[in-house]
Amino acid sequence: MIHYLIASLIFLIPAGAFAFQASDPLGLVLTWQQDPASTITIDWHTGSDDRNAEVTYRVAGTGEWQTQTGTTSPYPHSDRLIHRVELTGLNADTGYEFRTGPYARTRKFRTMPTEAHRPVRFAAGGDVRHRIEWMDRMNRHVARFSPDFIVWGGDLAYADGRSDTMDRWYEFMDSMMHTLVTPDGFTIPVLAGLGNHEVLGSWYHNDGHERRQDMPPYQQDDESRERIAPNYYKLFAFPGQPGYGVLDFGNYLSIILLDTDHTNPVDGQQTEWLERTLAERTHIPNVVPNYHVPGFPSVRNPMGRTSARIREHWVPLFEKYGVKLAFENHDHVYKRTYPIRDGAVSANGVVYIGDGAWGVGTREVGREHEGQEWYLKRASSDRHAVIVTVHGNLQHLLVVNEEGIVIDEYPRTPHFDTPGRQLIPIWEKVVETEE
Ligand SMILES: [Fe+2]
Repeated sequence: MIHYLIASLIFLIPAGAFAFQASDPLGLVLTWQQDPASTITIDWHTGSDDRNAEVTYRVAGTGEWQTQTGTTSPYPHSDRLIHRVELTGLNADTGYEFRTGPYARTRKFRTMPTEAHRPVRFAAGGDVRHRIEWMDRMNRHVARFSPDFIVWGGDLAYADGRSDTMDRWYEFMDSMMHTLVTPDGFTIPVLAGLGNHEVLGSWYHNDGHERRQDMPPYQQDDESRERIAPNYYKLFAFPGQPGYGVLDFGNYLSIILLDTDHTNPVDGQQTEWLERTLAERTHIPNVVPNYHVPGFPSVRNPMGRTSARIREHWVPLFEKYGVKLAFENHDHVYKRTYPIRDGAVSANGVVYIGDGAWGVGTREVGREHEGQEWYLKRASSDRHAVIVTVHGNLQHLLVVNEEGIVIDEYPRTPHFDTPGRQLIPIWEKVVETEE
């Protein structure tokens, strides 16, 4: 009898009384499309029944909550939705709290300083996930350095622009949302370039549709680029079309993302844009290009088509306009070159750092050229991230492997530079933290 009464009472309670709102959406991406000192772009992903595209936000711990409404668009090859809000008019170098749509969790982001009054730190790498546990692990190591942002130089989820690999994106976005949070609780913005594994057919000249002969041929326009890399162009607001771009941090740092023959040819329009972009920034002390295929590879043959094109079209511009560091990826090892100018080691040359092994299986250094390349100062088969600190015109790099151990430093602190590989535990112990 009692059971009957309880069952009847439950039946009479309106279903809405049990409505449960999840804490988190299905994915969250913070990035910038314009001034990082006064804006932020917030993307979050939901199921098809959630069309709420509002962000509520305030300066952390104080003030009135404000609301900003954005846009909702389809998530390619998926029944999910992408919601995007760009907040503008923010205070520089300030922490904000925010919530996305109806989701209960309050998160935080931080705007960037307008001037170099404090060091700015970012993590650079690429080739992000073969295995989600490798990506998670490196993300957590990086987050503990409290970087202001991350730059990924392509080969993100390894989904190849296809419709039958969407689980890879779903897991990738879940990993970003749960692991890219600093110890102080700030969600870390990401600037993501593209690589061959974002693209159907890998390269624009493969026309992107080897399996779809009914599709129109590639042209260098927005439609072709989005057709061959549909998820990349929708999931990352920056750089957006045409797939390369520059983000300026005050007058102390400019990050350039480039497309190494995936949805744009290296030469022609992109190289012309690169020259204009570099020429306009000769007064900026840190102008840092990031791209996928290396001009100075550590594993593959340096005479490979795209590597040779990068050395022909971009490297002379880097040298002409005073670039000091360029980040390369794609070869799945750690490498640092000597400073290079005019095809030789030179004290005032460009140092190329890479080669893309954030969360992928590593390869043998020099597999296609026996590791004898004159330009390789250091190279090892380590999954890694590069922690870059810039302060005014000063730059410093620490390279941390998947065990949280520093495997390289540049420039070197004098006592560090002894023969052989130095292993420095940067943390007392590696702690896997869950939210
Ligand atoms: Fe690649």
